[in-house]
Amino acid sequence: MAENLENKTVLLTGAGGGIGRAIAAKLANQKMKLILLGGNNIEKLQGTAEIVYKNSSCLVLPGDLTDPEFLTESMETIRRECGCIDVLINNAGVAQNTRFEDITLEEFDRIMAINVRVPFMLTQKVLPFLKESSSATIINIASVVSHSGYPMQSIYSASKHALLGMTKSIAREYYKENIRVHAICPGGVYTDMVKISRPDLTPDGMILPEDVADLVYFFLANRTNAVIDEILVHRVSKEPFS
Ligand SMILES: NC(=O)c1ccc[n+]([C@@H]2O[C@H](COP(=O)([O-])OP(=O)(O)OC[C@H]3O[C@@H](n4cnc5c(N)ncnc54)[C@H](OP(=O)(O)O)[C@@H]3O)[C@@H](O)[C@H]2O)c1
Repeated sequence: MAENLENKTVLLTGAGGGIGRAIAAKLANQKMKLILLGGNNIEKLQGTAEIVYKNSSCLVLPGDLTDPEFLTESMETIRRECGCIDVLINNAGVAQNTRFEDITLEEFDRIMAINVRVPFMLTQKVLPFLKESSSATIINIASVVSHSGYPMQSIYSASKHALLGMTKSIAREYYKENIRVHAICPGGVYTDMVKISRPDLTPDGMILPEDVADLVYFFLANRTNAVIDEILVHRVSKEPFS
């Protein structure tokens, strides 16, 4: 039987983006309460909040996720306003489209910070809440480049390999504390990001943000005893692995 998700609290990052907005809409439809954490584009974040408000409630906390002070202050606000977190979804991320030899140290640090350091920091901060929840789940939005490498995406690929590795270890470390940890590894999803990182791809056959949101829901609604590391999702393509 599907889990009853009503009134469970979800902390979601990157909610102003394509995949984040679809996840927020899907989970609000299930009457889950949303915390939309982080984002520099307030308009986009507000757009997502308006979609959530149609079916549920949300707390909107805009800001730079790479700023540890912002995270600490946000966790205090969440403790005060919500008191609990049942699900953490590390979705915020940045891609790249740069030749390896042209990547600066600053760019390397920025990509690794958002794609790896932020999920690390947030997961540590959210664990005490999850330990109090009967439906504790962490879902990390990784990528097919957690397994493969594309030209011009070396550091993005390195960061997503790291995120998948962290996911698998945490899944085993916290299984006995009833916390489920999964990654979703999509190929090209039709969002603003893919238009920049893979300008060679056409929308034809691309995964939709709503497809990723459905998989997030699948994990939450079907809480199993098994350790499920990841769901690997390919777009329809003539190429073998893209
Ligand atoms: N699109 C794809 O083909 C694809 C495929 C596989 C995996 N993914 C992964 O899916 C996730 C979502 O991607 P998307 O396609 O939905 O991209 P997107 O539309 O560009 O959304 C990315 C989100 O991350 C947020 N973000 C980035 N840096 C941030 C920071 N320093 N502080 C706070 N928020 C920050 C952005 O917020 P602001 O813009 O407001 O700063 C935005 O809401 C990413 O982790 C991405 O790597 C995407």
